[in-house]
Amino acid sequence: MDNKRIIIAIDGHSSCGKSTFAKAIAARLGYIFIDTGAMYRAVTLYALEHGAIAMGIVDEERIEAMLGDIEISFRFNSERGASDIYVNGDLVEGKIRTIEVSNCVSAVSSIGAVRRKLVAMQQQMGRNGGVVMDGRDIGTVVFPTAELKIYMTADPMVRAERRYKELTAKGDSVTLEEVYENVVSRDKADMSRAISPLRKADDAIVLDNSAMSVEEQMAWFDEQYRRVIGA
Ligand code: DC
Repeated sequence: MDNKRIIIAIDGHSSCGKSTFAKAIAARLGYIFIDTGAMYRAVTLYALEHGAIAMGIVDEERIEAMLGDIEISFRFNSERGASDIYVNGDLVEGKIRTIEVSNCVSAVSSIGAVRRKLVAMQQQMGRNGGVVMDGRDIGTVVFPTAELKIYMTADPMVRAERRYKELTAKGDSVTLEEVYENVVSRDKADMSRAISPLRKADDAIVLDNSAMSVEEQMAWFDEQYRRVIGA
């Protein structure tokens, strides 16, 4: 395919397979994949472990004050074919996708200072192009001039079932109802927050993958990509 290294912005609802899709695209094009949700999750984990969230109550001022102590980095893991996330040098990849973190991450990601710090980092990481970045505000705020913007969605119960399978496969004891509640409440929180709410950029193309296999999604992507690069 073409040598021009563009920015591909993928936004959309929780648990609709954005990361799987983004990772597959990055592998196909030889691009870097950046999971921005992992960055919001890493800050949430740090806040949980350092007493800035207790009994589900998020202490915004404390989180803002601790931001300077949180250094986030990524290192490529060739076994996974994606980058693992580190906080202050500690590998946290396996600890950021628990239901506890999921339940608090919307509140943490609605804090202005948290978003400013992470958006600046994301802009820095993508400045040379050749990236596939997935999140909620990539096409609207982080890279409003991205060449290709995709807005992903899927039926909430389909998404809950997918996330439930992932969590139970890892040994987490959750119920499907609990996961469904989390998916629906995160949609609501992500779309109604004051700063950078989740919304489709005007020039984004919609991919509803409720009934699509990964292969079908990749075939759809190839068409969109060819259109954008003019191949
Ligand atoms: O993609 P994810 O479910 O791992 O993201 C976790 C949370 O982080 C999600 O509830 C919303 C927030 N998020 C965000 O506000 N902005 C982004 N660019 C990425 C994620």
